[in-house]
Amino acid sequence: MTTIIDGKAIAQALRARVGEAVAEIGRAHGIQPGLAVVLVGEDPASAVYVRNKGKATVEAGLQSFEHKLDASIAQADLLALIDRLNRDDAVDGILVQLPLPAHIDAERVLQAIDPAKDVDGFHPVNVGRLWTGAPALAPCTPTGCMRMIRGVLPKISGREAVIVGRSNIVGKPMAAMLLAESATVTIAHSRTQDLQQRCLNADILVAAVGRPEMIRGDWVKPGAIVIDVGINRVPRGDGKSRLVGDVAYDEAAPRARAITPVPGGVGPMTIACLIENALVAACRRRGIQPPTL
Ligand code: GUN
Repeated sequence: MTTIIDGKAIAQALRARVGEAVAEIGRAHGIQPGLAVVLVGEDPASAVYVRNKGKATVEAGLQSFEHKLDASIAQADLLALIDRLNRDDAVDGILVQLPLPAHIDAERVLQAIDPAKDVDGFHPVNVGRLWTGAPALAPCTPTGCMRMIRGVLPKISGREAVIVGRSNIVGKPMAAMLLAESATVTIAHSRTQDLQQRCLNADILVAAVGRPEMIRGDWVKPGAIVIDVGINRVPRGDGKSRLVGDVAYDEAAPRARAITPVPGGVGPMTIACLIENALVAACRRRGIQPPTL
């Protein structure tokens, strides 16, 4: 029997634990962690993400600061806002929603965020810490994937892991996290030769390539753990659209030992891990040991 990994339920439970921990550090230390989210422009998908992040933040008892900026904002003005947020003691975490408009240098903006407040884990200091095994704020989506993998596979050590996708947001940090748990890691991507064959080697297969249903059922090793990070909107016959992952779910599910659905798999985990990161940042900035959740 295939286990369908219920990301929605796991995320809800994690959010509840973050909420309890926030209440606890409030009682013990008199602090309320704060998370600032910066949205530039009107991209509808980004607006939905930011709204959901704000809701989850408030629900867990953190302070939420939302900054919605016009798409035409000058880079210097965005950098000035980040500088203010860096210096604002009520702000423990800063997230700048990506993508940013083309006239803004996203790298420059991400590097302006104080690494201690970088809840996305995108700053080069946190990337370096993650790869070297130092305490880091780590990117939320791969952190959520690791939680789901651990839930079905307590011993990752020695397993073959194949990640399809090499982004800075998912593929590369996912590789660092799996390597840290002593998996043998391959980062494959859209130009990898013999991709099917490589995927067939995977005990843990993570699809984060952004191509709808690219990973077919006969690419999945029987008994593998399949984590589908893709969220792709594709047209349906009737003029409407539906969401699919990077994995052909109906083909892959019968072969997998465990698999994440789309929607309801990886997606909800990202926000839960974000508010966990905000709590961790708030604790570390004040020399408090972050709780293990
Ligand atoms: N856009 C898509 N995913 C992410 C994410 O994890 N963080 C940020 N800041 N922007 C995103």
